[in-house]
Amino acid sequence: MEKILVTGGTGYIGSHTVVELISAGYTVEILDNLCNSKESVLDKIFEITGVKPKFHKIDLLDFGALSNIFREGNFDCVLHFAGLKAVAESIAEPIMYYENNIGGTLNLLKCMKENNVNRIVFSSSATVYGDAGNGACHEDLPAGHGITNPYGRTKYMIEEILKDVSVSNPEFSATILRYFNPIGAHSSGLIGEDPNGIPNNLMPVIMRVATGEIDELSVYGNDYPTADGSCIRDYIHVVDLARGHVAALAKMRPGVKIYNLGTGRGTSVLEMVSAFERASGRKLPYKVAPRRAGDLAEVYADPSLAWQELGWKASMSIDDAMRDTLHYLELCV
Ligand code: NAD
Ligand code: WQD
Repeated sequence: MEKILVTGGTGYIGSHTVVELISAGYTVEILDNLCNSKESVLDKIFEITGVKPKFHKIDLLDFGALSNIFREGNFDCVLHFAGLKAVAESIAEPIMYYENNIGGTLNLLKCMKENNVNRIVFSSSATVYGDAGNGACHEDLPAGHGITNPYGRTKYMIEEILKDVSVSNPEFSATILRYFNPIGAHSSGLIGEDPNGIPNNLMPVIMRVATGEIDELSVYGNDYPTADGSCIRDYIHVVDLARGHVAALAKMRPGVKIYNLGTGRGTSVLEMVSAFERASGRKLPYKVAPRRAGDLAEVYADPSLAWQELGWKASMSIDDAMRDTLHYLELCV
């Protein structure tokens, strides 16, 4: 069976994908510097799958250590999750973001080239649609215009780098997966989202309100042109997202392919509050706050291409994600 190197494999999406890869029969090695994850995730992966993947605690910016892993690895493919992802931090620390995300990817691509590893799956984001992404996003929309932060620009730039590498090497296969808003946790309750520091994203904030670490949720705006006035996003269960990677791996061919991974359904912030209340049986304290700069009213995926070409579509609901999040937080009712 194929051997896959998963960068960022102890992180939120990476760890769920490692579980699905192992279940599908792949041999997995994980590389992570643990800047936003914990080594104990490996034990949880073992509890779920019965397999503890080989782990390399290294930084993608450490070219020497990365080269050594590749020399010994004999990898068939790389799944590249490792990166920094906090939008507000990227505005405060742009150099760190460009160095880590782009520098790390360039080191990875150099090692892949030196060792004749020609397949990569890259974690991109709906953020690359920029201001073109108001409403349903199809992969054909022009990307890269009106991205509001350095984090988002690193994702777009890496997409462009992968296209250039593909032009230079006819054997190179890159699958770019544009995630919408991943939420939820593994149904075992053993792995889930556990961000360091103050969260920015909606679901981690809801989780901290649920555990009492934050008093109330600020709903950023209730005067958008949507049914209830709050913003609409496409929240996708992280296990559905993880399975999208397994589907993509099986269909890789030379060249660059881009797929949205989303549900195609939009949910408003206030509907997310209601879903939390349904799942937990308790009220979620919130207040309406001013709009957040850079937010678009409504962003959701057109996921039809992934269905047509990969045979993948999301099957779980917001309620499933809320239930699994509560299980992970040990807040089951
Ligand atoms: P995460 O922070 O949980 O996981 C990223 C992992 O990469 C972490 O374990 C971190 O320690 C590791 N890492 C970061 N820089 C590294 C480096 N230089 N060397 C080695 N390891 C490094 O984040 P996530 O939510 O699992 O996101 C995974 C990928 O998906 C990221 O590339 C992110 O940009 C992308 N993405 C995430 C979302 C989202 O909302 N979570 C949406 C779209 C795209
Ligand atoms: C969702 C909705 C907020 C927090 C971001 C990144 C994007 C991608 C996904 C990685 C919005 C509202 C949020 C809060 C709120 N990440 N909200 N109160 O903005 O769709 O995208 O995460 O690639 O790059 O920009 O997700 O979770 O931040 O917000 O009302 O405390 O929740 O206004 O409408 P977003 P989000």
